[in-house]
Amino acid sequence: MTSTPAKPTRELLFPDLSDDIDARIAWFQHMQKNQPLRFRPEYNLWEVFRYEDVQYVLKNPEEFSVSNKTHLGLPFSFGRADIPDHRFLRGFVARSFQPGNIEGLAPEFAAMVDALLAPARESGRLEVLGELGYPIMERVVGQMFGLRIPGVNLFREWSDQMFGQLIGVRSPDHADVVDLFREQLDERKLDPRDDLMSALLAARRKDDRLAEEKIIHMCLDLATAGNAPLSLLLAYTFQRFCRDPELFQTLRRDPSLIPGAIEEILRFDFSWFNLWRTARHDTVLGGQEIKADQYVVVWDSSANFDEKHFPQADRFDIRRSPNPHLTFGQGMYICLGLPLVRVLGRVVLERLVATFSDLAADPDRPVRTLEQMKDYVVSLDVVLTPSKTAVS
Ligand code: HEM
Repeated sequence: MTSTPAKPTRELLFPDLSDDIDARIAWFQHMQKNQPLRFRPEYNLWEVFRYEDVQYVLKNPEEFSVSNKTHLGLPFSFGRADIPDHRFLRGFVARSFQPGNIEGLAPEFAAMVDALLAPARESGRLEVLGELGYPIMERVVGQMFGLRIPGVNLFREWSDQMFGQLIGVRSPDHADVVDLFREQLDERKLDPRDDLMSALLAARRKDDRLAEEKIIHMCLDLATAGNAPLSLLLAYTFQRFCRDPELFQTLRRDPSLIPGAIEEILRFDFSWFNLWRTARHDTVLGGQEIKADQYVVVWDSSANFDEKHFPQADRFDIRRSPNPHLTFGQGMYICLGLPLVRVLGRVVLERLVATFSDLAADPDRPVRTLEQMKDYVVSLDVVLTPSKTAVS
């Protein structure tokens, strides 16, 4: 009698990741060379380490399905809808995220970031996630989608809940958020507005594929999917400035280096990301036979250290070009928030280097991370020196 494999969670894969980044990179590169596809029979799961294989899985949704990645009881979203439903659903919201539209919001974003940094100009202190990352996303999500967000603390709690479920460090518990979005949907049925939910409701009248549950979950996904990773991106950036004050000064002297710095932080510091798929049918990947329904976990973070695509991959280099990292995924499920992350990240750093002449870790308040996951920063306090002349 064969035993049924355990339902895997992402958390089960984390123990292989060393807390030491050099050891982590060495492990990725060792796996790429010696065991580019590793089968874990206890979970009926394949892990994929090489850039080409990772890219192949992400770009072939006909062979590798996304629908089973709801293994942690996350509500349905279009990021977990298989083709052809995915194209249909993503089409509704893609317009809001077009790079041209987002770039046009840069001056508004700059004013918002200045307002959030103003108290730190007075106090000389900032908690990066609670006072910058999540408040930025609360405002952006509220404005872009016209959703009512009841305060930044609750907003952060939902975001942490959803992202925590996705990476396997929290259990399902999202009924309250779903109820809150259902209320907003009911309001718009009676009183349509110029916002995403009302547009989706209007579209539903013409196409019954857009069930109400789907509308609620799409909005929920948009409101929560990117908040934790965007806040982490800021935390990783500030941590780099604390460790390497010269990096901050380099960006102050030449802010045109900011976009390249952000791409390199995305490549280097999300070195724990992996993306989940399931084989739709028996197939072959990198010379290995994969059976239908087996889990396929691609380590996009490992691909980001594949020497074939990133010469001297273990060197952090803000001038690296090209930098084809896979931190946003690839193919049709590529992060919808990508243009937003690039513009917001750039604007935050531009305003930061214009407003402050120096920053360092706050010696009185050490960084806090999740116990099970050191890469998941919970709070990061810094001390800042305001510039004598603020650059506009
Ligand atoms: C540093 C920040 C971010 C990172 C690293 C990131 C990463 C990712 C990745 C890797 C995927 C693909 C998942 C897969 O293929 O299974 C994804 C999808 C997605 N992301 Fe992001 N994300 C970020 C920020 C955001 C933001 C700010 C938003 C929205 C406001 C967002 C919204 C989405 C959505 C809606 C999807 C699903 C897209 C689809 O399936 O068509 N993300 N993200």
